[in-house]
Amino acid sequence: MRGPQVTPFHAGAIARRGAARLRAGLPFIPMHFGQPSAGAPAAAIAAAHRALDRDALGYDELVELRERIAAYYADTHGLAIAPERVLLTAGASAGLVAAYAAMFRPGDRVALLRPGYPAYRNTLCAMRLEPVEIRCGAEQHYRPTPAQIEALDPAPEGILLASPANPTGAMLDAPLLTALLASCRARRIRVISDEIYHGVGYGAPFVSALEIDPDAVVINSFSKLYRMPGWRLGWMIVPPAWAEQIHVYLTNMFLTPSTLAQHAALAAMDAREDLEHWVAIYGRNRARLIDGLAALGITRLLPPDGAFYLYADVGHLTQDSMQFCLRAVDEIGVGLAPGIDFDPDEGHRFVRFSFAVTPAEIDRALELLAGWLPR
Ligand SMILES: Cc1ncc(COP(=O)(O)O)c(C=O)c1O
Repeated sequence: MRGPQVTPFHAGAIARRGAARLRAGLPFIPMHFGQPSAGAPAAAIAAAHRALDRDALGYDELVELRERIAAYYADTHGLAIAPERVLLTAGASAGLVAAYAAMFRPGDRVALLRPGYPAYRNTLCAMRLEPVEIRCGAEQHYRPTPAQIEALDPAPEGILLASPANPTGAMLDAPLLTALLASCRARRIRVISDEIYHGVGYGAPFVSALEIDPDAVVINSFSKLYRMPGWRLGWMIVPPAWAEQIHVYLTNMFLTPSTLAQHAALAAMDAREDLEHWVAIYGRNRARLIDGLAALGITRLLPPDGAFYLYADVGHLTQDSMQFCLRAVDEIGVGLAPGIDFDPDEGHRFVRFSFAVTPAEIDRALELLAGWLPR
């Protein structure tokens, strides 16, 4: 193989051991991956059934879905986005690949935040782009500052911003996002804004980079708020001048995303009550988990503004987060993600808890941890 070697998702090893437990009839609480344990909204599943009955499910891109996504930007952000700027993708992952391919040349430097979603860095490497990390620790609330962007030398070609962010749940409010985007513009740094966790939050408003910079490339997906990770459907909003060419990239690379998923997604976008119901559950899980972990002595964490993760410093318990997570799955059947996935330098003393599970699973995980962690 002549391509670059890329680091795996370490949480994948936890998933495999969790699956083996389930096959062996042992319990497993899946808090390792960022995926809602409740499936898609009932309306989405019903729409998929109807589509199966009457649609041949060929390669298709539903104009209605592009229009519905454009309407979402009008309703939620007051933005007029032409449906031609909405490109459907096989999840945010495919959107990131197409954005990297279209926006950069091999060898270009692209900034990203550490800790951050591992595939940002790993996909950059696979595509022969150079990740430039901006360290955003707890002391700066896991948020970048304009000064950090101004200090990048030389200026990178691009930057990936995420709000709410994985694994920290940190959000960028309008003043900070405005300042960050101004620094990027001044230095001609192209912006990709990953907004995949929009809609999953605990009070703070969701600001789209498009409200501030119409040239930002926005990535989003049906995997999180809409609880459809396995359906593999997402979207990008791209500048008008790039839309046709990025669409050409997407069709060459992926043809179309799943047609069945597109039918379901149209219904999911209107399932407002159902979506809000689960976000309210995540809100209660978040509070329960913060309190429960505090009672177990895990207090070095910042309550997330959004997404469904707690990123906790467990340095008093381990300096080897992978080992800690392997033991947690093998010994008590609790799936956690090791910090080394998100931060190769400091992640050895962090773990990420996903609370997109049921309240009963949160309670049980806390009980199991209480009996397992040293007192
Ligand atoms: C921040 C972030 N971006 C992108 C993705 C990829 O999501 P998708 O399922 O839409 O490909 C994930 C998945 O966990 C994520 O956390």
